[in-house]
Amino acid sequence: STLIQYIVLPSLKKDGVSVYYVSRTSNTDGVDSFLDKVDEVSTEPIPESWRSEVTFSTPALYIYTSGTTGLPKAATINHHRLWYGTGLSTMSGFRADDVIYTTLPLYHSSALMIGLHGCILAGATLALRTKFSASQFWDDCRKYNVTVIQYIGELLRYLCNTPPKPNDRDHKVRMALGNGLRGDVWKEFVKRFGDIHVYEFYASTEGNIGFMNYPRKIGAVGRANYLQRKVITYELIKYDVEKDEPVRDGNGYCIKVPKGEVGLLICKITQLTPFNGYAGGKTQTEKKKLRDVFKKGDLYFNTGDLLMIDHDNFVYFHDRVGDTFRWKGENVATTEVADIVGLVDFVQEVNIYGVPVPGHEGRIGMASIKMKENHEFDGKKLFRHIADYLPSYARPRFLRIQDTIEITGTFKHRKVTLMEEGFNPTVIKDALYFLDDTAKTYIPMTEDIYKAINDNTLKI
Ligand SMILES: *[C@@H]1O[C@H](CO)[C@@H](O)[C@H](O)[C@H]1NC(C)=O
Repeated sequence: STLIQYIVLPSLKKDGVSVYYVSRTSNTDGVDSFLDKVDEVSTEPIPESWRSEVTFSTPALYIYTSGTTGLPKAATINHHRLWYGTGLSTMSGFRADDVIYTTLPLYHSSALMIGLHGCILAGATLALRTKFSASQFWDDCRKYNVTVIQYIGELLRYLCNTPPKPNDRDHKVRMALGNGLRGDVWKEFVKRFGDIHVYEFYASTEGNIGFMNYPRKIGAVGRANYLQRKVITYELIKYDVEKDEPVRDGNGYCIKVPKGEVGLLICKITQLTPFNGYAGGKTQTEKKKLRDVFKKGDLYFNTGDLLMIDHDNFVYFHDRVGDTFRWKGENVATTEVADIVGLVDFVQEVNIYGVPVPGHEGRIGMASIKMKENHEFDGKKLFRHIADYLPSYARPRFLRIQDTIEITGTFKHRKVTLMEEGFNPTVIKDALYFLDDTAKTYIPMTEDIYKAINDNTLKI
């Protein structure tokens, strides 16, 4: 608060910005309280005269997206985009008698656009919690008669990791809506907590394309269908992970990938599928646009996501462009490796990333693992599992055991610091292991091994 008072506040005041606390009182000069003002506000609809200028293109909200690279950017969400977002709640079937439970922060687009605004649209009830709690989750659902839950990324994994209880299926939750649910957790979740219809979707805050897995195919994020194809022009194109850009053919145009192959998802920017960009971020906005894609002058939104569409038209999320790395000339998708490592019985949570090795192109795989309580690390077992399921180039060569896996406010794994720390045993204080191909196990990492890798006397 000192920082706010003496450094941030004066500069905000200079710009004429009013600053409030989300509380009923304030002890800070220049900062007013907000909730007491909310208490006094009329519950009547906002007068029409206040809304008469509002059109579909009027900004409704700004949402900060972490983006895949760089600093957070404020995506402009206009009223058209907001309606589009609530479409996911309509498609999944929010009803007026539903109670929707949202534990995601409201600055997250799913919580705000689908949860809150979807709820208003359906005339349903919203149950909010300040902070997600795995241990309190089902008690809350019972207490508030929750029928729909919103999830993201790891939330359902955290729920599955809590100790089983006899009343695990004692609740009214009929539907879960969200994204980032991995296949293994999905199976475990419905097995344990009952026949909850899971609607996994793919979307991004600022993107102009989304998918919804309405057939509820485990592991998929959606289904490419005729109707959507008719109105929305999207493609998966070949991507060069090393150069970090789409592959272009002899004429300088992008190349569509066939079904069953991974490609970068791009979607044509049109009146129906616009890209509104970032507030005040011209260069950031330009960076997300892809020009001269299939012919001179055409314009697409670059999602920065690698996806795959299979022969049955199911859409699968593969990885973020910045997360996927290359090793020995092969692309390694961090989410896929994390799925495999996450199946080992002593692994509670895993974060996969690539680290550079002196004298080698690309990056080699490394895992940060959080152990399940009362479980022992078993290097042989882990090796056997990984060798069974992953080709050698994708196997994490190093791993570290961490007490907590750092996540962002919206439950995404942080990788940057881990990548910087690499696999140097003098830097990393966590238990650190090295995959030993000959011994067929993970062995404790030593300074000798570290030196041998750096001198290139130990081949990896
Ligand atoms: C939940 O439902 C039960 C039974 O229908 C009802 O008695 C109770 O008041 C409801 N609780 C809330 C918070 O609405």
